[in-house]
Amino acid sequence: AEVRGRTAFITGGANGIGLGIARALVTAGANVAIADIRESALDEARASLGADAQVETVQLDVTDREGYARAADRAEARFGHIHMLIGNAGVGVMGPITETKYDDWDWAMGVNFGGVVNGLVTILPRIRAHGEGGQIVTTSSQSALIPISFSATYTAAKAAVLGLSEAIRGELAPDNIGVSAFLPGPVQSNIAASGELRPDRYRHDSGYIAREQQLGKREVSPLWMSADEVGERVLAGIRRNDLYILTHPEFAPGMRTRFDAILASMPDEPVNAARAEAIGFLLGN
Ligand code: NAI
Repeated sequence: AEVRGRTAFITGGANGIGLGIARALVTAGANVAIADIRESALDEARASLGADAQVETVQLDVTDREGYARAADRAEARFGHIHMLIGNAGVGVMGPITETKYDDWDWAMGVNFGGVVNGLVTILPRIRAHGEGGQIVTTSSQSALIPISFSATYTAAKAAVLGLSEAIRGELAPDNIGVSAFLPGPVQSNIAASGELRPDRYRHDSGYIAREQQLGKREVSPLWMSADEVGERVLAGIRRNDLYILTHPEFAPGMRTRFDAILASMPDEPVNAARAEAIGFLLGN
């Protein structure tokens, strides 16, 4: 999709990956409305982008549906039509399954999956209504493709984001709305500090609080990819309307192993031609 002169609504854009995406889009001539729960980080993000004519910031918790609609109204009041939705806000909610409680599930799913859902329900009708086409980008994770231990809530949410993105791509193509699932590997960001964002309502029945405080002190490796590099990869993926935007070829062997195992588990018997005909629309060829 074309980005110059168009408008992107980016959630979680005040830090890390979202800010890297915002920077790439602004440099390419797009307007960006950055929505984030961290108000002070929004001011710093706007200053660091140094392009006030192309940047609007709005404080938003992506789990707040009324707030989401107001944030979208504000982006439209400033720039006119929204063309791109970058559903990127996320929190690193991690821990052993044996210690995982309802508040951990509800927060992880509410932000990492529910935030993407709320973006779609709020903004997709607006993109369709103006008829100029656009792009939906969802931030899933490499962990949706190679699940890692001690990340059940996070991985479940990211796998849901991937599945929903794949499912809607064909449906939206006739409206000239592209869909990209973005699945980054390790990127330098603030994600280890997610615990400070856990709302009070999710602190009563959690098994993760102590772990989150420890994680907040973790050093980010300089060998992890920079958010600006990742932002450029996302920009390229938007321009080509790539279904999948990946960042790290280091994960290819693991992905091959996983998919070979899935294929190897198919019944080893001839295809039933009549049955194939009957389920044709499900086969995805
Ligand atoms: P980050 O913590 O630097 O940025 C996330 C942003 O989302 C922050 O600015 C935060 O304030 C905001 N946010 C959190 N909860 C929010 C809410 N309820 N409403 C609105 N904004 C909220 O972390 P990072 O790494 O840049 O994360 C961006 C996305 O990338 C997330 O979805 C994350 O899960 C995903 N990701 C990150 C990877 C990494 O290695 N950093 C790897 C794979 C995926």
